[in-house]
Parts: sequence; C-alpha cells; structure tokens
Amino acid sequence: MNLKREKVVVCGAGGFIGGHLVKNLLDDGVDVIRAVDIKPIEDWYQVSTDTDNVEANLKDLRDCEEAVDKATAVFNLAADMGGMGFIENNKALCMLSVLTNTHLLMASQRAKVSRFFYSSSACVYNADKQKEANVVPLKESDAYPALAEDGYGWEKLFSERMCRHFEEDFGLQCRVARYHNVYGPLGTWTGGREKAPAAICRKVLEAKLSGKHTIEIWGDGHQTRSFMYVDDCTKGSRMIMESDIHEPINLGSSESVSINQLVDIVEEFSGIKLIRNYKLDAPKGVNGRNSDNMLIQKYLGWEPSTALRDGLRKTYDWISTQMEDSNNNVRSIDAFVYDHPAGASDKVIKLPMSQQVG
Ligand code: NAD
Ligand code: GDD
Repeated sequence: MNLKREKVVVCGAGGFIGGHLVKNLLDDGVDVIRAVDIKPIEDWYQVSTDTDNVEANLKDLRDCEEAVDKATAVFNLAADMGGMGFIENNKALCMLSVLTNTHLLMASQRAKVSRFFYSSSACVYNADKQKEANVVPLKESDAYPALAEDGYGWEKLFSERMCRHFEEDFGLQCRVARYHNVYGPLGTWTGGREKAPAAICRKVLEAKLSGKHTIEIWGDGHQTRSFMYVDDCTKGSRMIMESDIHEPINLGSSESVSINQLVDIVEEFSGIKLIRNYKLDAPKGVNGRNSDNMLIQKYLGWEPSTALRDGLRKTYDWISTQMEDSNNNVRSIDAFVYDHPAGASDKVIKLPMSQQVG
C-alpha cells in the first residue's frame, strides 16, 4: 500500500502521537480526509487546517461509522492512556478502550476500508520476562504465554487479537505496532498522565525555577526502559501500515536507559545537580524493558534511531516554554495550528489547559 493513493482517517488525532502523525502525513502530501478525537478541538495538541477535524466519541459505534466514512485507510491511535501513574490507577478506564478499537474495526469492515492500523504497546509483554533491570530485549514472541501489564496491557493484547481475527475471518487487512515508551514535544507533560521523559524534564525545570534543588523519582531509579522519539514513531507507523507485515511488531528504540541516566541527561541540560529522593511505593511497572528490533530490521531494514539526548533536548526545550507560559499566568498549552505545505504559515495560538484525569 502507498498511503499517497489512499483516503486516510487518523483517530486520536488530538493526542500526542496522532497529532504528529496527521502533520507528518499531510506534509508528505497524503490525503488525510479526517482527524478525529473525543477532546474539544481547542484542547488538541496540533490542529491542521487542511483536514476535517471532528470531535467524536469513538467508543460509540455510530460515531465510528461516521468517522471512517469514505476512508480507505484508518489509523487507530485513540485510547485512554498515560504513564505508570495513570495506568496503574485507572485499569477499568484503560480496559474500556476495547470499545474504541472494537467499534472502529466493525465500522471499518462495514465501510470496506482497505487497511487498519492499531497502536499496541510494549505493555503486552509477559511480566516474568521483565523482572531484571538488565533485561533481555523483548522479541515479539515474548507476549506469550500471556502475562501482560494489568488493565492497560491486557486491553492492548485483546485488541491485537481482535485485529488478527478481523483479518482472518473478515478479510480486513490489519497492521499492529507495539510502541515502546514514546516521547517528544507537543505531548502530555503534566496532570498525571505524563510518562517518565516528560515528567523528569518538568521536575528538573521545576527544581531549577524554584531554586529548591531536589527531585522525587519513582522507584529506585535503576529500572530501565527504551525511549523512542516521536518522529521515529510516526515514520515507523507509516512504514508498518504500508508494509506486508501481518503480525504485531515492535516499534521502539533498542537503547536501554535507566531512569537515573535519564535524570543525568536532563540535569546536564539544566546545568544544575539535584538531590534525588526515591519514592519506592510510587507506580513503577516492570524493572526492565527494551525492544528487540530483529524483526523490524528484517522486514523494513530500518529501526528507530534518534539518539535519546537529541530527542530529549527538543522535549526539554518545549516543556520549558510551556512552563514559562504557566509562570506568566497564561494557563495554556501550545497547540500548533498549521496550514500546508509545511512551514508556509505555521503559527502558535494559546488555548485553555486541557482537562486531565489522574
Ligand atoms: P494521547 O493520550 O496523547 O492520545 C490519545 C488520544 O485518544 C487522546 O487525545 C484522547 O482524547 C483520544 N481518545 C481517547 N478516548 C477516545 C474516544 N473514546 N474517542 C475519541 N478519541 C479518544 O496518547 P498517545 O501517546 O498519543 O498514544 C497514542 C496511542 O499509542 C494510544 O493507543 C496509546 O495506547 C499508544 N501507545 C502510546 C505509547 C506512548 O509512549 N505514548 C506507548 C505505547 C502505546
Ligand atoms: N511517569 C513517571 N513519572 N514515571 C516515573 C517518574 C515520574 O515522575 N519517576 C520515575 N518514573 C519511573 C516509573 O516508575 C517507571 O518505572 C518508569 O519511570 C517509566 O515510567 P513511564 O514512562 O510512566 O511508563 P512505562 O515505561 O512503564 O510505560 C509506558 O510505556 C508503555 C510502552 O512502553 C506507558 O506510557 C505505557 O502506557 C506504554 O504503553
């Protein structure tokens, strides 16, 4: 499949990755006929003027039918999600995203959509294989026997299987990527749903601004993850969508980093050293997680490669501007409203702070 010949719908377009994906596709001349999210449009991180932006609740089958009308390719990035602080305390909410993917699959099948993309997660992997910080990188077969992250991970695993059976039984072509922790600008950095990279940037900046040089770190700081810059995520998602890969596949960096190392890098950006307070009873998740990229290399001859330091610098700088705005009492997120071609008239507008749970 070449997306340039398709009519594309992006679900979850008001969110972090969905917003970047819409921009990336439009910049490349892809016909994104609709961008859909449950959030009010003024709360979307990025809003394009070159697509139809729709507010809809994709848990509802009828909304899904309207969302995919006339589409030939559908990306599902809509989910109730967040970092460990959110998913550990909102398991039922996370599992209810099963309605979104199920109804989107049903609507896509009825609308005779040619291809469907599902954004799964590394949280599907068996917890027993992630007990050590020095983890063996997870290969796709490590999702079974199943022992996924409680709540969120089980929903992702179930939805992966729904995709598989819609393809096998009904002929709806599905592509599934298992994202490993994604970070970058124009995503959640405060409010309870933020993941470690954004949270650490924010906490270091807070320490610098307040002059109180301490930081609270969840867990003992030795736990490891791999972090994928959002541009690699959008590029990989598109490549997987256009490919003939019929099985769920890792999309993540293979650069293993401990949370302490993440803090080291952000401290360097800030030019200060912090006293680290470890909160051992905070939501922690698995001890170690990394992506085995053998399969994506085999299929695509490519893997995410943005160096953490480079991507994190852009994230840190963006969060810094957000915090400056907050300090000037402009309670705002920056939503980028853009026309195309890219760069023709990019402008930034101030919008009300989005409501966040958790
Ligand atoms: P995000 O929260 O920024 O975006 C998700 C969007 O989905 C939000 O804007 C939300 O309003 C929307 N949404 C939720 N329920 C909806 C509904 N019923 N109808 C319409 N829209 C709805 O999250 P993200 O980081 O952009 O994640 C995108 C996808 O990638 C999600 O499926 C997520 O589970 C998956 N994923 C993300 C990461 C990561 O590190 N960011 C890792 C693994 C998987
Ligand atoms: N969020 C957060 N905030 N995490 C922190 C903090 C903090 O202030 N301090 C330390 N951590 C630790 C967490 O305890 C956890 O051990 C690690 O940093 C990573 O946390 P997150 O980034 O929140 O989540 P995750 O990597 O365990 O899971 C994320 O990635 C999955 C894909 O790999 C989540 O976003 C999942 O939703 C996602 O599917």
